[in-house]
Amino acid sequence: MSAIPNSKPVAVIGAGTMGAGIAQVAAAAGHRVFLYDAAEGAAGAGKARLARGLEALVSRGKMDPAEVGRLIDRIEIASGLEAMSEAALVVEAIVENLDVKRGLFAKLEGIVDSDCILATNTSSISITAIAAGLRHAERVAGMHFFNPAPVMKLVEVVSGLATSRAVADSVHATATAWGKVAVHARSTPGFIVNRVARAFYGEALRLLEEGVADAVTLDALVTGGGGFRMGPFDLMDLIGNDVNYAVSKSVFDAFHQEPRFRPSTIQQELVSAGRLGRKSGRGFHDYAEGAVRPAPSTVAAQGGVETWANFTLTGASEHDGVHIAQTDGRTARAVSKELGRPVIVHDLLKPAGDDRRLGFAASPDVSEEALSRFVASLAAQGIAATALPDWPGLVVMRTLAAIANEGFETMLQGVADEAGIDDAMRFGVNYPRGPMQWAREVGLRRIVSVLDTLRDLTGDMRYRASLALRFAAEK
Ligand code: NAI
Repeated sequence: MSAIPNSKPVAVIGAGTMGAGIAQVAAAAGHRVFLYDAAEGAAGAGKARLARGLEALVSRGKMDPAEVGRLIDRIEIASGLEAMSEAALVVEAIVENLDVKRGLFAKLEGIVDSDCILATNTSSISITAIAAGLRHAERVAGMHFFNPAPVMKLVEVVSGLATSRAVADSVHATATAWGKVAVHARSTPGFIVNRVARAFYGEALRLLEEGVADAVTLDALVTGGGGFRMGPFDLMDLIGNDVNYAVSKSVFDAFHQEPRFRPSTIQQELVSAGRLGRKSGRGFHDYAEGAVRPAPSTVAAQGGVETWANFTLTGASEHDGVHIAQTDGRTARAVSKELGRPVIVHDLLKPAGDDRRLGFAASPDVSEEALSRFVASLAAQGIAATALPDWPGLVVMRTLAAIANEGFETMLQGVADEAGIDDAMRFGVNYPRGPMQWAREVGLRRIVSVLDTLRDLTGDMRYRASLALRFAAEK
């Protein structure tokens, strides 16, 4: 089935944060949009809000005023569900409650045409469950936008057990026609993004719990080493620790206490303390007026120390008798024992950009002098150094191993294909790379080795490698 032509109207139900944004996206693509909200005045307020946002873009010269005028005119406030009868697609963005959503779709079935597609923007409810009991469950699909909907590129197109392929394809084509990157997903807890992203937060929380580094330093490593736009603690503070913790708990329970999704007691404590993040003035970081963010833990480069000639971080190398290599999960101590030489293992480093930062760990027999030459050689290339405890997988590599492993498991379970998972993470949460492609470039054997080492040393089955990852690594 092809995209719904923009000559046909689209209905959006719920005019809150998401609904107003979705209405804007559909109207921008040329559809007439019926916007309805059960709360009196809410649809009008939603439209006024989006109009203000667009007018701000006009005043900054980013949008044409005439175009904005036409867009706003295409959004019609509906006073009741009956007004939706002409719609070819209904997208609901109402309260996140299964019974309420089911009730809404049951009512809509009596109003819309037989070929109208019923889409839900739910983040966490099973599409199968929402569609169950409807006369035409095959026409229900997830159309999951990300906040803010006009800005974020991704739409997860989610199929429940009954969703017909034609309906999913039509929603996919329509989202694409609206300028979005659409990705097919099977209805499973968290779909793609909210599932794979759990590993990003979960691994950071484990690193904090284990005392590998403080939150400021972990954030600096993940951005300066991994190239993520925001560190995990900054991001949890932005999302709200209450919201992030609730999603973690719901995904953990939905997967029947799968250890990979185990929530963190550190975050639970923050929620109990009311340290919800930016919105409450304090979370992992302090947002009070005048609060100064402490500097990440850094080994200062000493002046006058000679740098190593031909020093690069690609492949393993040897300088002053010290073996230097990217981490494969084994500790520097373990590699040093095996080689009979002092060893420095280092983390992943983003290829370019400001604020580059590399974490490293050294075996106890690395001399002070060699360490200062290592740090000076990094500094000469504009890279800050963070000394880490000699822990398996360090920080960025461990983070990548966790998200890539979740990606492979998501693929193994037939939720989405590899390209879809990579697109979802790039366009839904702005990851710098698709985690699976990134893992392939780093080397799947290395990723498996990181996970195996973590599993062996901790005994925690959250680190068992997905069979899809293990077998792909053997190829
Ligand atoms: P919101 O609370 O900002 O807006 C919900 C709106 O729906 C309210 O204006 C409310 O009056 C209205 N409403 C509630 N019950 C209704 C009913 N029975 N009929 C008509 N209108 C009704 O909520 P938000 O954040 O926009 O979320 C809406 C949906 O989008 C939820 O399913 C949520 O899971 C999903 N979602 C939210 C995201 C977010 O970041 N806020 C991201 C992606 C999806």
